[in-house]
Amino acid sequence: MGEGRLESGAHGCLTYTYEYGRSLLPPLPPGDAEAGMWRYQKLLPRPDVPTDYPLPVGGTPLREAPELRHRLGLPGLWLKDETSGPSASNKDRATALVIDRGLRTGIRVISTASTGNAAVSTAIGGAAAGLSVVIFVPADCAPSKVDQMVARGAYVFRVAEGYRAAFDLSRSAAATFAWLDRNTGVSPLTIEAKKTASFEVWEQLDGNAPDVAVLPVGDGATLIGAAKGFRELVACGALAQVPRIVAVQAQGCAPLAAQWHSTPPPHRWPGTVADGIEVPEPVVGPWALAELRHATGDFVTVSDTEILAAADLLADAAHLKAEPAGAAALAGLRRAADTGLVRPDETIVAWVTGADLPAVPAASATSAPGHRGGAVFTISADLDAVAAALADTPVPVS
Ligand SMILES: Cc1ncc(COP(=O)(O)O)c(C=O)c1O
Repeated sequence: MGEGRLESGAHGCLTYTYEYGRSLLPPLPPGDAEAGMWRYQKLLPRPDVPTDYPLPVGGTPLREAPELRHRLGLPGLWLKDETSGPSASNKDRATALVIDRGLRTGIRVISTASTGNAAVSTAIGGAAAGLSVVIFVPADCAPSKVDQMVARGAYVFRVAEGYRAAFDLSRSAAATFAWLDRNTGVSPLTIEAKKTASFEVWEQLDGNAPDVAVLPVGDGATLIGAAKGFRELVACGALAQVPRIVAVQAQGCAPLAAQWHSTPPPHRWPGTVADGIEVPEPVVGPWALAELRHATGDFVTVSDTEILAAADLLADAAHLKAEPAGAAALAGLRRAADTGLVRPDETIVAWVTGADLPAVPAASATSAPGHRGGAVFTISADLDAVAAALADTPVPVS
């Protein structure tokens, strides 16, 4: 592999470190922005060779949105618009880096568990790269997202016991059947990919950090990636200090915010309209909390009403059609501004992490030439059920 050393962090997860220095970063101003995420080659754990990953990734806009600034009374607000990639969510960075490595090692199958967006991204990226894709989602995953996966030929398991069971089943299936495992917390590549959004923000602000970064939190990988990116910019000597981070969870599913504020969680989280961040048992939670402490950050929680209002505001004032989880950071920012956690004179970047893809047409791609399968199975979390369901497919299960 290229640069980067894999170590076990204090949070118990594997993480990459580098021999940091200014020369690891591309020069400012960016001259090759169209290279997207791959231009941070020296801070990615891969050899210095062109990627075989076929889709564009990274290089997303930092939007000024003057009308939104005006309405919120926050003249220093910017939006990191992560909705412009192939699957319209920030998951495309991680998908690309995991598949990039998989293609070099000759892997044929990629799999992941997901609340929805990582799965859609994996289905799109995997299909483009010629891989078979196996997905594990909670049984209540939005049908429109399952349709997106199947339309790309993915085999989708809706797991009755919910996300955490889907995650555990996904891990054991990948280990047993020798599939490439994209799961966050298993593949440290996902964090490495997500950190590149912070590198881009630094470049887009002409070599500066914002005072505050506002991020939605489900499992926590988006926050960890953004925080690690800013930490690495400091380690490289490109920034004096990391921005403060405002982390945002939905009130209907806020286990990390509860831990942060030492409030007892309910027996069962009621759920949220922002399904992308509905993760009752986050896998990389301790790492996310450690990053938030390092960034002298804080957690806010927002109601579904506030999230939907933020989505409406993004559409109306910034012409951005975010899904609820993608608008959660903006909802959290409004709350943080109301409570004085952020000030109007600060430079603030709010991540907009996802938009809904247009619905798959009724005569879906399963009938398209070259299509490689695709099916949905609803199961209990049981490895034998996975093997039985895939027995007549091209996916190896022995
Ligand atoms: C649109 C959107 N925003 C934010 C997140 C939160 O990301 P993480 O699980 O990395 O905390 C997700 C996760 O699925 C998502 O789909």
